Amino acid sequence: MPRKIITEPSRTLMEFRLLPQLTTSLTKIGEISLQTPVAFNSLTGKNTYLNIPIISAAMQAVSGVKMAIELAKAGGVSFIYCSQPIAEQAAMIAEIKQHKAGFVKPKTIDPDVLLSDFHKTRLKTGYNTFPVVSKDGTFLGLISKNDYDLKPHGNMTVKERMIPKKDIVTSNQANNLKQANAVLMDSHQNVLPVLGENDKLLYLVFRKDIHDHLDNPQQVVDDKKRLLTAAAINTHDYQERLPALVAAGVDILSIDSSDGYTTFQQDTLKWCASNFPQIPIIGGNVVTAEGFQFLVDNGASAIKVGMGSGSICITQEQKGTGRGLATAIIKTVAQRDLYYAQSGKYIPIIADGGIGNSKDIAVALALGADAVMMGRYFARMEEAPTEKVTINRRIMKPYWGEGSNRARDWKQQRYNQSQFIEGVEGFVEYAGRLKDNLEITLSKIKSTMSTCGVATIKELHKNAELEVVSSLSIREGKVHDIFIPDNSEYLGDNDFN
Ligand code: IMP
Repeated sequence: MPRKIITEPSRTLMEFRLLPQLTTSLTKIGEISLQTPVAFNSLTGKNTYLNIPIISAAMQAVSGVKMAIELAKAGGVSFIYCSQPIAEQAAMIAEIKQHKAGFVKPKTIDPDVLLSDFHKTRLKTGYNTFPVVSKDGTFLGLISKNDYDLKPHGNMTVKERMIPKKDIVTSNQANNLKQANAVLMDSHQNVLPVLGENDKLLYLVFRKDIHDHLDNPQQVVDDKKRLLTAAAINTHDYQERLPALVAAGVDILSIDSSDGYTTFQQDTLKWCASNFPQIPIIGGNVVTAEGFQFLVDNGASAIKVGMGSGSICITQEQKGTGRGLATAIIKTVAQRDLYYAQSGKYIPIIADGGIGNSKDIAVALALGADAVMMGRYFARMEEAPTEKVTINRRIMKPYWGEGSNRARDWKQQRYNQSQFIEGVEGFVEYAGRLKDNLEITLSKIKSTMSTCGVATIKELHKNAELEVVSSLSIREGKVHDIFIPDNSEYLGDNDFN
């Protein structure tokens, strides 16, 4: 006889609808705050907060440097994936930290590179301007997309088309961003090279970053005003990986695993707490109250919840383990609230996997999650670290699971013990810039909250009223019985916009 058989079916987010409540001037869309806790720090007894409840998944096809910078500017955070060598992951964290400081450690180009090759590098990295430096790091000039055309210049070298140092305003104020900004503003350049001794290139400062704060009032920063950074670790090489990430400036860590209810996570959490008590570390994924409490008792700062619900995930089919995301949230939130009542420690819950559209985010939050982690949503964006491809005249981006063959090449990652894959590889339709997409997603969430008569996520947790809906009722809620030529916008249930 099994220990437990639950005959009540496990629920998904899309089975729920929120009931409207009194909307007042206090809950108008403009009054709504999406600020939310993301990790409890046991040293300070306080939570780290995001300004939006949106997190990008620790996946190769999702969370690179560009995504992390844009998402932190918008108020969320990206978890840089750990399915890569330690030094490379640490370098990515360092690059994000550099960004906010205003002093950017740039990718450089050799003066003798052919412009046709430089062009490829430019497209691959997405950067427009490169400093040209000699082998010993001496600054020689700048080359940007405006300085060449492939047809006439493809076979020329970078140094033949660059703007030479003598024609560029530079600065030697490596410790004084304010002054560097003033020099840049006074110049006619978009970028200011900051040089050290013997004209060695140290940093670039970009004109567009001067106004960064005004343009991004929601951005989340550390106490040195650098963008908040987060990284995933695994339960295998954490004793080497963690110190490197901390040295690079990481603010929050999370253990990346499809099954977090293990003694391996216990060991990792304990080691982290005794060696780096200042760094919050998120455990998961779990789907039961017992799993939640186990990780919290071992020092987890927040818990990722969800198993088998991700868009690229075949864990449920392969192993028969998992739980509908809504039920997983409901069970762990109940335990979280109980623990909070007993201990006064608020452990945030991050709903992860299979969040397919804006209403799913609203339902996950209403059920008690503090934030959502998404992969597919972000994989469609310009900022995802993948190249666009055209398939059947549609622009797509590749997206693959961390447990797919494509990601498993990295030997020490989360599924390396198994002989089978837990994720698939496919494509998602290109959706444009993160900023534009987030704007729509967030306005929908705020609109839901307004209809539910709440102005904060905390109030939503307390006051939300939800109802399970029948499949007929879901059908009724969609466009029906009407012919709309070219109605592709309405067809996909997972269409965010
Ligand atoms: P999505 O937002 O539905 O695409 O789900 C993303 C989430 O799926 C991630 O945050 C992980 O928790 C999970 N995940 C990532 N890779 C795999 C995999 O290969 N198999 C199963 N789950 C995965």
